[in-house]
Amino acid sequence: MSSSNASSSSRGAILLVGGMGTRLQPLTLQTPKPMLPVAGVPFTEHQIIKAREAGIKEIVLATSFKAELFEPYFGDGERFGISIKYAVEKEPLGTGGAIANAAKSLTQAGPIAIFNGDVLSGHDLNAQFEFHEKNRAEVTLYLTKVADARAFGAVELTADFQVTAFNEKMENPPTNTINAGCYIFNREVINQIPTGQVVSVERETFPGLLKQGARVFGFVDSSYWLDIGTPAALLKASQDLLSGLAKSAATPSHSSDFLALPGAKIDATANVTGNSVIGADAIVGQGARITGCVVNDGAIIGPDAILSNTFVAAGFEVPGGVIAEGSYLGY
Ligand code: GTP
Repeated sequence: MSSSNASSSSRGAILLVGGMGTRLQPLTLQTPKPMLPVAGVPFTEHQIIKAREAGIKEIVLATSFKAELFEPYFGDGERFGISIKYAVEKEPLGTGGAIANAAKSLTQAGPIAIFNGDVLSGHDLNAQFEFHEKNRAEVTLYLTKVADARAFGAVELTADFQVTAFNEKMENPPTNTINAGCYIFNREVINQIPTGQVVSVERETFPGLLKQGARVFGFVDSSYWLDIGTPAALLKASQDLLSGLAKSAATPSHSSDFLALPGAKIDATANVTGNSVIGADAIVGQGARITGCVVNDGAIIGPDAILSNTFVAAGFEVPGGVIAEGSYLGY
């Protein structure tokens, strides 16, 4: 099989957003990970805008856990300048099964970008598409280097970036180049994934393609990359987007040190720093000190509270004088 050498006008995308987000509990008990706010908007919005900027016209959200929470916010995508569809799995189909299921809703014929719903990256998606087309690849994986690859899929390459081995989560990975969670697949490859059953793209599809001798390439990139799957990483993502270390056109405009969403009221004697987010209609009381926090919509921070690197649930009232570091309040 060879690439269709498609122009950007026929590019589609699938966003894998059906996981349970267990590592992010308790934050994910009510809200699926991709809908958690990061720098003031649901994380998925950053990825949708990134897809739009790479010329993608149509995106399918592959949902399962708390599937009903996506459509009321994203609708048909008109507000975001891209067509958005939904492929709901009654029972989660795994990453590969989700791709096969969601692809049925895509009308675009060209190569398909597939995003893990929990990766914040600065890589150039358009350049990844061009690399895919130039190499006449069937699949192109975005790869990055990390200090410790044990928790990821370690990917081995030839000198011309052809993938030779895919080692999912192992104790002694042979390389620190890892699967960074954004793939380009030709439609013909997706058509080979069995439908209606649980399939892991990492454990079954990739190793299977290598066995068949398929043209699988690695697009190695060293720009910003973060798996937002833990609470500490989620906070870091929000802070990095506000500080400018990570870039996303979906980040609302903000002051140099924090983001206050519409209706937020911060007392003149309070001190908000460290790239915190103060949600819509939230109130920060007299003398409170907030640093590096995510205070969600409608929360109330009592006078003289001192919070750092802490999540405050929507609508929760933090009593005056509370001191918290690295906590979850109201979940
Ligand atoms: P943890 O439980 O904390 O590991 O998080 P997770 O449930 O998100 O799992 P993981 O990080 O392994 O998933 C990677 C990406 O694939 C995430 O964006 C998930 O939302 C998504 N995902 C995982 N399994 C499924 C599935 O069965 N169906 C769909 N549609 N998406 C999935």
